[in-house]
Amino acid sequence: MWEGKHRCILIAERLTNHYKNMDGTGPLIYLKREDLSHCGAHKMNNAIAQAMIAKRMGLKHVVTATGAGQHGVATAAACAKLGLECTVFMGSIDMQKQSSNLLLMKLLGAQVKSVQGNFKDASSEAIRGWVGNLERSYYFSGTVVGPHPRPSMVCEFQSVIGKETRRQAMEKWGGKPDVLVACVGSGSNALGLFHEFIGDQDVRMIGVEAAGFGLDSGKHAATLARGEVGVYHGAMSYLLQDEEGQIVDTHSIGVGLEYPGVSPELSFLKDTGRAEFYSATDKEAIAAYQRLCRLEGIVPALEASHALAFLDKLCPTLKDGTKVVVSCSGRGDKVAVTVHGYLQDWSIEPCTDVSIPVTRT
Ligand SMILES: Cc1ncc(COP(=O)(O)O)c(C=O)c1O
Repeated sequence: MWEGKHRCILIAERLTNHYKNMDGTGPLIYLKREDLSHCGAHKMNNAIAQAMIAKRMGLKHVVTATGAGQHGVATAAACAKLGLECTVFMGSIDMQKQSSNLLLMKLLGAQVKSVQGNFKDASSEAIRGWVGNLERSYYFSGTVVGPHPRPSMVCEFQSVIGKETRRQAMEKWGGKPDVLVACVGSGSNALGLFHEFIGDQDVRMIGVEAAGFGLDSGKHAATLARGEVGVYHGAMSYLLQDEEGQIVDTHSIGVGLEYPGVSPELSFLKDTGRAEFYSATDKEAIAAYQRLCRLEGIVPALEASHALAFLDKLCPTLKDGTKVVVSCSGRGDKVAVTVHGYLQDWSIEPCTDVSIPVTRT
């Protein structure tokens, strides 16, 4: 009960209406409400499981790294619950962007260590800190990257998302979803949703990466779209790197999407063609963020807004009654100030494009 057990799939009625054709046909959009998890994101599925393992192993100290801060907050809360010491490494840039999560981690008793840079730099420091204190410390990744067996463990703990989706879909309409959509940062909410359905060839799996200012701008985090295979933080996957194999800087308005690598398993699903991958820009994500606020009264994380943004392109291509489940991986009330800042910078009036649900042609 502590972790929250009410993460239903919910029909998004007004969003579904928004995407209807003139003749009233169109897909049905459901949201997988991971934003209702304790601490506001899917990250808790992994954090509480790994904190329990650390405790069971008799280790006293948990070391981790966070980007957007959601994983850091979930870890700090899980460690508080289980009486473990917690150190979270966080990039100085991310600390500025996610100051409320930084404060929350401290309130929950974590020691937060600032690292110059962003999530990738914080991850390197966390691994270094752990390797220097192996007898006492437990390192865990907040997502499906890092040295084996971390990606497999995180996938296992996040696969609850897909298992719940299968069960809840069966209860709601007596079948499976037709299409699954999730944002891809490093890949844990996407793989968590997809994993259960990999063997169901009739279920489409769509991951949406961060196109930032556009794929040709050089300022994006679309690893699967533009990366090459390489090795980083102990795992082989697609990577955003230059000709000499050096990691390149990434950008996304969704801080949790900025990692230059991605899950090895998602890389494999791309290579085999089992999953499809697309991208959404910062502007498209902001529009989707506002749309969900205005149409459903739900404030999504900016990361999840990338998955929601892809509905614009996807929905017109789908048959009437297609059941689409979108992973609403987290809540986005903490980024309201960021969103307003971007709207001002871009001279966009808040919500002008979504105030009235329009009927699509
Ligand atoms: C709410 C939310 N969704 C998605 C992500 C992206 O991570 P992943 O790709 O591992 O799900 C993050 C990362 O911090 C997040 O906080």
